[in-house]
Amino acid sequence: MSDVITDRIHIGSVHDIAPGQGRCYVVNGEEIAVFRQRNGSILAIQNRCPHKNGPLHEGIAGGGKVICPMHGHKFDLATGLGSEPRECVRTYKIVVVNDRIEMEAPSPCARLGPPA
Ligand code: FES
Repeated sequence: MSDVITDRIHIGSVHDIAPGQGRCYVVNGEEIAVFRQRNGSILAIQNRCPHKNGPLHEGIAGGGKVICPMHGHKFDLATGLGSEPRECVRTYKIVVVNDRIEMEAPSPCARLGPPA
């Protein structure tokens, strides 16, 4: 369950995601894949792969990237840029306050422009 705090949305707790893993949250009807990097940083991207809708939170994450579990396309967790030409995913700005993961508004896709 999420609640609104000022202009951010509380989507979960850091301790709910194991280091090196991802987890899917649904925020305002949109699936968000949140990854807890082994270096402690929290990064978030759209959960559905632009190739054929693979669940990116189930992919292998490491080195700031995630590999889609369906066909292996890679996405940078910070920029959203994909390994294939013209593929990218939306990124979300995350702020961690104590154990709380808070999300700000989504950024436009770097390659395809703002969401419709
Ligand atoms: S669905 Fe993600 S690479 Fe095909």
